Amino acid sequence: MPPPKFGRFFANKRLRKLLTIRATLGPLDSLMSNVASAVDTPNFEFGKNWQSFLAKCYSPERLEVSKRCLAAFLDPIDLHGKTFIDVGCGSGLSSLAAYDLGVRELVSFDLDPHSVDATLSLRKLRDDPAHWTVLRGSALDEAFLKSLGQWDIVYSWGVLHHTGQMWNAVRNARTLLKPDGLFFIALYTTSPLSEYWIRTKKAYNRGGSLRKRLMEARYVWRQLVAPNLAMPWRIASAVKDYKKSRGMEFMTDVRDWLGGWPYEDARIEEVWRFGVRDLGLTLVNLKTGEACTEYLFAGPAGTDRSRFSAGER
Ligand SMILES: C[S@@+](CC[C@H](N)C(=O)[O-])C[C@H]1O[C@@H](n2cnc3c(N)ncnc32)[C@H](O)[C@@H]1O
Repeated sequence: MPPPKFGRFFANKRLRKLLTIRATLGPLDSLMSNVASAVDTPNFEFGKNWQSFLAKCYSPERLEVSKRCLAAFLDPIDLHGKTFIDVGCGSGLSSLAAYDLGVRELVSFDLDPHSVDATLSLRKLRDDPAHWTVLRGSALDEAFLKSLGQWDIVYSWGVLHHTGQMWNAVRNARTLLKPDGLFFIALYTTSPLSEYWIRTKKAYNRGGSLRKRLMEARYVWRQLVAPNLAMPWRIASAVKDYKKSRGMEFMTDVRDWLGGWPYEDARIEEVWRFGVRDLGLTLVNLKTGEACTEYLFAGPAGTDRSRFSAGER
């Protein structure tokens, strides 16, 4: 999950300058990135955050946004009649979106039992359909993945960088892909602030509940309130408009971002190279500009590839 973003609301010129300088220091990025889990930091409980999101914020409007975002990134491929697997389903909102977009068969799985329960609660909204299965399992468990077979669309948004073994997890998820399938993943992109955020996440997860609330308040102050003090109406609209980002909710994403541990990130060209050279895929769509970059790769037998390259993307 990306850190809550404020797009045009974000007014920190110094940070933008730093990001520009850092972007020119390509080779150093590899030293800064790919930091896996540390034994002394407890993992974040993603699933409880997702359950709270559903309990407080789920709405048909958010579902519509999620459907629009999913369909737009896959366009011109229509999900209708396709098989779809959601690796690390979290709240289950994207799974429900895929279900409503007409997939023929759907499997959603997550490591966290609370994420599994959250997704089951959304499945219930559609009367527990037989062609939607929700499982507990790990993207690092090769035997489990093998039991799942191969899929037209393998979807894993904001997950594989939270496994503690990102590249292994990407490789494992790819094994779920049919030769002519589509591999849709979103991964954190290395930034000049990666090291800072890793320290922050460790501090958050080691902290008690009071420390966590204080860190959340400090984050909101620094990232949202302080830069907009001169135009306070922007604060409210940034929070309100937040749902435009895949149907997500501002404070859920603040906690997910500060807490999201284990954490790794990668440069866009690293992911592209890994997908093409190591996984034998072709990149057919890319969305940048957020903390997570979205990648859409086509399998080696993807007859749909020509359709992607034909249009302006
Ligand atoms: C940031 S959330 C993203 C959830 C969802 N994909 C979305 O887009 O909202 C990351 C999810 O990955 C799950 N996760 C972490 N490690 C995993 C693993 N090894 N296998 C499967 N899921 C995992 C977490 O439990 C959490 O629900």
